[in-house]
Amino acid sequence: MEIKITKTQNPMPKPDENNLGFGKYFTDHMFTMDWDTEKGWHDAQIIPYGPIPLSPACNCLHYSQETFEGMKAYRTEDGTVQLFRPEENFKRLNNSNERLSMPLLDEEFALKALKELLKIDADWVPYGDGKSLYIRPFCIATEPSLGAHTSTKYKFIIIMSPSGAYYASGLNPVKIYVETNYVRAVRGGTGYAKTGGNYAASMKAQDIAGEQGFSQVLWLDGVERKYVEEVGAMNVFFVVDGEVITPALQGSILPGITRKSVIDILKHWGVPVSERRIAIEELAQAYKDGKFTEMFGSGTAAVISPVGLLRYGDLDMELSGGKIGELSQKLYDELTGIQWGKRPDPFGWIQKID
Ligand code: PLP
Ligand code: COI
Repeated sequence: MEIKITKTQNPMPKPDENNLGFGKYFTDHMFTMDWDTEKGWHDAQIIPYGPIPLSPACNCLHYSQETFEGMKAYRTEDGTVQLFRPEENFKRLNNSNERLSMPLLDEEFALKALKELLKIDADWVPYGDGKSLYIRPFCIATEPSLGAHTSTKYKFIIIMSPSGAYYASGLNPVKIYVETNYVRAVRGGTGYAKTGGNYAASMKAQDIAGEQGFSQVLWLDGVERKYVEEVGAMNVFFVVDGEVITPALQGSILPGITRKSVIDILKHWGVPVSERRIAIEELAQAYKDGKFTEMFGSGTAAVISPVGLLRYGDLDMELSGGKIGELSQKLYDELTGIQWGKRPDPFGWIQKID
């Protein structure tokens, strides 16, 4: 399919790179494509960034039939722009679409569209250390009908946002508590899909955590309320007795691309790592025994985020002396080294935009 390109007549001024925050500014252009039952995907376009006309009756606004992705473009020291495992994001978007009963995308075409968009807005990829262009592909149901059924019309859109660190604290350790009241997802639900409803369901707990000075909550499984799952925008890893452990993917956790990459890097280094069910009581006991020593989260936006304090009921587990843990720092350096082209890419994860 051909991509029709209409360039903006009013390029926007670039924001101050030292004050980007996360997801607040948007590039000059966006990609859009429509789907309907007769034509399938059609009308692929790159157009100036701006509001989209939507009927107030659209299915996505009422029943949350929507999916999204989060990925980044990085600028290397020689000025090249590159992507990290982008094919994984489009694969996951299709898994989400499948779960939400939405039409699948041609993954190769979606990636090609993103690369075209990146070429046009290349000068929006920040130059500063640790900064990147956050990319948000998403699909929404656009049929103007209040019937609670699968839509007959959809839009696929890609917008891009020059961003700094996700947490205002940067690479500093975050404080997290174990959420024992609310749940985010259950097996059989939509936890493994990247869909707005999962995030809407998590905001109440996150707000309460924020009021108490915590960055996010650690979710427990929604059935037994016993096993740890993930936090708001990250998967989690624990160092217990010298082994790295992370919750197994059982349908209620987002299969993070950073998570998968961390596991591959650890295996490559020969560090013992396993994916399994992890009871919160097991972690509490290991902490009391002096065996649970480090914890970090992994995610595209959050990269590697060390956890300095994990609270579970009355138990405050201070990890790595409240500082950045040794393994967290090592993984952060390796992952960001590959992403920004400062270190070799032994896994072939990088795709350059030329
Ligand atoms: N878990 C949730 C709920 C997320 O929103 C994210 C972020 O995308 C992740 C985990 C990490 O996934 P990834 O590493 O693919 O960004
Ligand atoms: C990401 O890491 O890409 C995310 O999607 C997190 C987000 C919910 C801001």
